[in-house]
Order: sequence, then C-alpha cells, then structure tokens
Amino acid sequence: MGEGRSLTILGISGSLRRGSFNTGALRAAAGVAPPGVVVELAELRDIPLYDEDLRRERGFPPAVERLRARIRRADALLLATPEYNYSFTGVLKNAIDWVSRPPEPPLPGKPLAVIGVSPGVTGAIRAQWQLRPVLAGLGALVLFRPEVAIGDARAKFDENGDLRDADSRQRLAGLLEALVAWTRRLEAGAGTTKPA
Ligand SMILES: Cc1cc2nc3c(=O)[nH]c(=O)nc-3n(C[C@H](O)[C@H](O)[C@H](O)COP(=O)(O)O)c2cc1C
Repeated sequence: MGEGRSLTILGISGSLRRGSFNTGALRAAAGVAPPGVVVELAELRDIPLYDEDLRRERGFPPAVERLRARIRRADALLLATPEYNYSFTGVLKNAIDWVSRPPEPPLPGKPLAVIGVSPGVTGAIRAQWQLRPVLAGLGALVLFRPEVAIGDARAKFDENGDLRDADSRQRLAGLLEALVAWTRRLEAGAGTTKPA
C-alpha cells in the first residue's frame, strides 16, 4: 500500500462446499491483495447451529470463540456469499447470529465488504443485497461500492475452483483497494461513530 501499517483482512465464505466458487473468490482476493495487505480465510464448518440454551449454559463453543477472536483481530472483513433461494446462506446467517451475541460482539465498528459468486448470471446479487443490511444493522461499517458480483462462474473458475477470469480478478483487486482505503479512513477517525 505504501502508506500506513500493514492490514489483515479476514475472508469468510458462506459456502462449505469443496470447490466452492465463493471460497475460490476469496483465495483469488488473497492473490490480488495490494502490498502490505494480507487476506486470511476463516472456516465456518465447525460452527454448530445457534442454540441460545447452549450459549447461556456453556458459553460460546470453541469454534465460535475462535471466529470471534479472528474477527476482532482483523482490520477488515471480506464476506463471500453464495445465493441460496434468493438469499445468503444459512451457514453465514448462523455464524453471524453467534458472533452478534454479547459479551463484546466483534462486528460493531468493523469495516467490511461483501462479494458473491454464482453459476447463473446474477453473481448472487440478491444474496448480497440482503446480507449488507444485516451486517450494517449489527453496526459493521459496510462498504457498499464497488460491487463485485461474479456470474457465469463455471466459465471463470478452473477445475480446482481457482478464479481464472482476468476481469473478475481485476474487480476483486479494485474492491480490496477500496476496502483498504475505507479501513484506513475509518482508522484515521473520519466518520467513526462506534455504535453502542
Ligand atoms: C439450496 C440451494 C439454493 C440455490 N438457490 C440459488 C438462487 O436462488 N440463485 C442462484 O443464483 N443460485 C442458486 N443456487 C446455486 C448456487 O449459486 C450454486 O450452487 C453455487 O455454486 C453455490 O456457491 P458455491 O460454489 O460457493 O458453493 C442454489 C443452490 C442451492 C444448493
């Protein structure tokens, strides 16, 4: 980046599928991140279904505690969601529900962006449109533009699930630059109002 300290962006995929296009897009994001920016990937597979009794009686399960800690440590988040039945995935909603609970939920004040990939033409845009307000409602500082909606995924990813399409990779690079600028701007104090 050439300015400021290095940043860590935590990528979270809403798909558990081996060969997931969305997870592949996050790996591609890691590959096109600007210098001084590291994109790490979080894993949602071990997060159990949200259970209020479990949380009250035994606290956060270890996988949830790990995710909370990684979100807290990250300078920003990049969420990649598939579209399942016109919305974002239950896997993602379940993880968001866990990390939204007290004490000290890590999402308020956290800069983040959302992307989506689909084999159809839409690039999971409806899922993205539903996910952003949920995150904003929790106090995350959501970057709404540029949008990255990668459609026609089968033509753009190879057999290993890696993103080969140059235009999509360039869009991801542009989004990361915008997310880094957004994060640095918030860090510098422009417009930071940490929600209660
Ligand atoms: C339960 C289910 C519902 C789906 N609904 C939609 C949908 O509403 N819109 C869409 O574009 N694709 C839909 N798809 C197709 C997904 O976009 C496709 O499976 C995609 O590869 C999932 O993302 P992933 O590759 O990251 O796992 C659906 C798939 C599943 C399994």
